[in-house]
Amino acid sequence: MKSDPSKKIIIIGATSGIGKALAELYVQKGNYVGITGRRFNLLQSLRQQYPEQILTECFDVRGDQNIHHLNSLIEQLGGLDLLIYNAGYGEVSKTLNWEIEKATYETNVRGFIEIINYSFNYFVQQGNGHIAATSSIAAIRGNSWAPAYSASKSFMSNYMEGLYMKAKRMRLPIYVTDIQPGFVKTKLAKGNPQFWIAQTDKAVMQIAKAIEKKKWRVYITKRWWLIAQVMKLAPGWLYHKFG
Ligand SMILES: NC(=O)c1ccc[n+]([C@@H]2O[C@H](COP(=O)([O-])OP(=O)(O)OC[C@H]3O[C@@H](n4cnc5c(N)ncnc54)[C@H](OP(=O)(O)O)[C@@H]3O)[C@@H](O)[C@H]2O)c1
Repeated sequence: MKSDPSKKIIIIGATSGIGKALAELYVQKGNYVGITGRRFNLLQSLRQQYPEQILTECFDVRGDQNIHHLNSLIEQLGGLDLLIYNAGYGEVSKTLNWEIEKATYETNVRGFIEIINYSFNYFVQQGNGHIAATSSIAAIRGNSWAPAYSASKSFMSNYMEGLYMKAKRMRLPIYVTDIQPGFVKTKLAKGNPQFWIAQTDKAVMQIAKAIEKKKWRVYITKRWWLIAQVMKLAPGWLYHKFG
């Protein structure tokens, strides 16, 4: 008898942009997808489109009920194979506004580590699984326009690399994928000029492919690999003129 190829997937932050497009792609591939976000009506409208395959949980990752909501979604799905932490906040912080820095930290660092930590340990107990997170090319170096954003994305990518190595050492089939997009055409994309900006559909196709291939890190779109290498190699005196 053939085994069921469909997967149970949770996408944290799937009401719009990359997360919503990824949810739709995974549903079209025949999977069951649990989606989250704060905007209840957007969660419901996606569920109404795919009532057999989409499950929802409405919550703010900055709150103190993350694990409760995550467990509720796992229960609704009847298990979990892949968790993608995609919720993200980023705003230009011209005057180093504390509200911006705080919201960035709470969404991209605290919410992220709580949910990813729980999911990794869930998969250790289960004996298999896959976690992925949408970080950013901004993870590579500091940035004067949005310092909390680039620092938070560094935290994410660094943590994901650590978990990737941890899973390898444990010799368990637990996979970790760190996603570093450049610019993707969503409402979050900020900064001027925006070059090499990718359509959301193209970006999510490449994200899903990297996850399928169990890559530990992927640049979206692929050509952002080049920018990543330049950013890593640029000496401080040069980088600090632009960053
Ligand atoms: N677009 C780009 O150019 C780009 C580049 C590099 C990295 N990224 C990363 O890609 C990810 C997705 O961003 P996007 O471009 O698709 O933007 P988006 O359309 O604004 O999507 C962000 C998602 O995160 C959710 N979210 C944000 N804050 C949340 C909170 N406090 N609690 C729960 N959910 C929250 C939003 O849902 P609700 O508003 O409904 O809560 C939404 O579903 C982010 O992590 C972003 O940093 C984007």
